[in-house]
Amino acid sequence: MDRWAGKVAVVTGASSGIGLATAKALVQNGMVVVGLARRKEKMESELANIRGATGKFYAVKCDVARDNEVAEAFEWIKKNVGKVQVLINNAGIASGGKFTEVDNAILKNIMEVNVMGTIYCTKEALKVLQADNLPGHIININSIVGHTVLKPMGRDLNIYVASKYAITGFSETLVRELMGQNIRVTSLSPGLVKTEIVGSGLKDLNILDYPFLESEDIANAIIYLLGTPQRVQVKELLIPPLGENFL
Ligand SMILES: NC(=O)c1ccc[n+]([C@@H]2O[C@H](COP(=O)([O-])OP(=O)(O)OC[C@H]3O[C@@H](n4cnc5c(N)ncnc54)[C@H](OP(=O)(O)O)[C@@H]3O)[C@@H](O)[C@H]2O)c1
Repeated sequence: MDRWAGKVAVVTGASSGIGLATAKALVQNGMVVVGLARRKEKMESELANIRGATGKFYAVKCDVARDNEVAEAFEWIKKNVGKVQVLINNAGIASGGKFTEVDNAILKNIMEVNVMGTIYCTKEALKVLQADNLPGHIININSIVGHTVLKPMGRDLNIYVASKYAITGFSETLVRELMGQNIRVTSLSPGLVKTEIVGSGLKDLNILDYPFLESEDIANAIIYLLGTPQRVQVKELLIPPLGENFL
């Protein structure tokens, strides 16, 4: 990780769960981290005093589903913080229910945040990386459900599964498009993680008795991924909790 100390990382969805744990871990490892989420004050308070921190944290209010807000956020980062070299595309939402029963506005929003948000942020980060031929790493937070439609609850996840399959396809496309450039791409697919998305978005799915990971488990995996030499490209990392039998 030493080579990333003082370098700029953007973490989307840094106000809770996996994104918050990741932002903390990156700051503890000396990176200059910019969190993008709608709850700016929550990011600021959660990341105010991080134990053992050698890096810095900046919070930027941004709805990643809006391309103009994403472009403005990256412009602000370029002017005020520095050149983004690491991007963790983590912001995501889910809502339980069969797709025939869920409002179109909700379905559209899931695709806009989970898929288009990832694409808008990636485009902006690549502008910076490619302009100066900088070494970079883009990590897309995918899911086990980006690889399989779960029998126990797949039908109750409506468009969320399709949004994560899109991340699998997008990540592989990105690997091919960036071939020959010094930019790594990883699709990181956790199983169930104890976060707000499960507590609120998916509370009716009766999954609370299943085995769960903690957000820090995924943050630690991100530290491992970044810490490998730049010649190493982990294209896909599946991390279910022990005992999960979805795949
Ligand atoms: N928890 C799991 O079991 C699990 C498993 C596999 C994959 N994942 C994936 O992990 C990622 C993180 O989720 P989590 O589990 O940590 O859930 P979480 O605690 O609900 O965190 C979601 C984060 O996304 C942000 N976000 C939502 N909509 C946004 C928007 N329009 N613009 C910017 N930020 C937005 C939220 O911030 P604001 O509300 O402040 O905007 C929040 O910080 C998601 O991509 C999720 O699909 C989760």
